[in-house]
Amino acid sequence: MTLPARVKIVEVGPRDGLQNEATLVPLDIKIALIDRLSETGLSAIEAGAFVSPKWVPQMADSAEVFRRIKQKPDVSYPVLVPNVKGLELALAAGAAEIAVFGAASESFSQRNINCSIQESLERFSHVCDAAQSAGLKVRGYVSCVLGCPYEGEIAPKAVAKVAEALIGMGCYEVSLGDTIGVGTPTKAQRMIEAVAAEVDMRHLAAHFHDTYGQALANLHAVLPLGVAVIDASVSGLGGCPYAPGASGNVATEDVVYMLHGMGIETGIDLDKLAEAGAFISQALGRQPGSKAGMALRARTPGEPKPEQ
Ligand code: HMG
Ligand code: MG
Repeated sequence: MTLPARVKIVEVGPRDGLQNEATLVPLDIKIALIDRLSETGLSAIEAGAFVSPKWVPQMADSAEVFRRIKQKPDVSYPVLVPNVKGLELALAAGAAEIAVFGAASESFSQRNINCSIQESLERFSHVCDAAQSAGLKVRGYVSCVLGCPYEGEIAPKAVAKVAEALIGMGCYEVSLGDTIGVGTPTKAQRMIEAVAAEVDMRHLAAHFHDTYGQALANLHAVLPLGVAVIDASVSGLGGCPYAPGASGNVATEDVVYMLHGMGIETGIDLDKLAEAGAFISQALGRQPGSKAGMALRARTPGEPKPEQ
C-alpha cells in the first residue's frame, strides 16, 4: 500500500486537551484558542463535550463556547455526546456534528460512561438515529484500542467489533483511541489491520496519545496501511480524566511537520498552528508540548525555513 497523498487532521485540543486541565480554563481562552485554530487551514476542530458537568467540569461551558466561536463555513466543529441528553444540548447549541464515544474495554466503559459496552452501543444507536433525523453527522470513537488502564491488553478483535457496530449504526468515521498511549508501531499496525478486516479503511481515524512517546512512530507505521485521518492536539494538550496517567494526544504541530516532510498534504499552515500552540501553552502557563512548534518559533530572523 502506498502513502496517502493527503491526510485530514482532526484537531482535538479544545476538547481532549482542555478536558483534563485541573483548574478551570477561562471561557475566553477556550474561544480564542478555537478561533486561532480556525485560521490555520484545519477542516475539523472538536470544540467541546456535552457530558455531565459532574463527571467533567472543564467541559461544562461547551454550549457557551460553541455559541461564541467564529465558525468558518469550511470547518466542522464536532462535539462529544454520550447520550440523548447530550444530543439535546448539542442540538440546542446549534452543533452540526457530534461524536459518540465507546470503548473496547468493559472496565474503561464503566469508569468513563458508567455503563457496559453493550449498553453504550444501545444508547449510541438511539443517539445516532435521532442525530441523523435532525441532519447531524455522527463520528464514533473506540477507546483503549491498544491497552486499558484497568485491564491491560485489549484484543484487536474486540476493537474491530465495537468499530463495526458504530459504523453499522451510521457513524461516518470511527476514531481508534490509544487512550493511554501504550501502543508501539507493530501493535498499532496489527490493530489497524484487524479493524480494517471489518471496516473500510476510509472510515478509520488514528487517535493516539503520546504517554510513552510512541504516537508519532505509531502514526508513521499505520500511514502505509492507508490511514488518512489523524486526530491530534495542538501543543500536545490533554489526557483523559478517566484514564489515570494518560498524557496528551500527539501534538498537531509534530504530525503536520512529519506529514509535510513526507510530501503528504494537510492544507494546514504550520506557522499559524505553532502560534496557536504557543498561545494556549502561555495561557496555561507551561512549556509548549510540541517539539516542532517550539523549534519553528525559536528560529532567528533570516534562518532558512525547514521544509513545511
Ligand atoms: P450517569 O451518572 O450514569 O448519568 O453518567 P445519568 O443519566 O444517571 O444522569 C446523572 C446526572 O447527570 C443527571 O443530573 C443528568 O441530568 C446528568 P442530576 O439529576 O444528578 O442533576 N446528565 C447530563 N448532564 C449534562 N450532559 C449530559 C448528561 N447526561 C446526564 N450529556 C454519563 C453517565 C455518560 C452522563 C457520564 O458518565 C459522563 O458524562 N461521562 C463523560 C466522561 C467523559 O467525558 N470522558 C472524557 C471523554 S472520552 C475520552 O477522552 C476518550 C477519547 O478522547 C478517545 C480516546 O482517547 O480513547 C474520546
Ligand atoms: Mg483521547
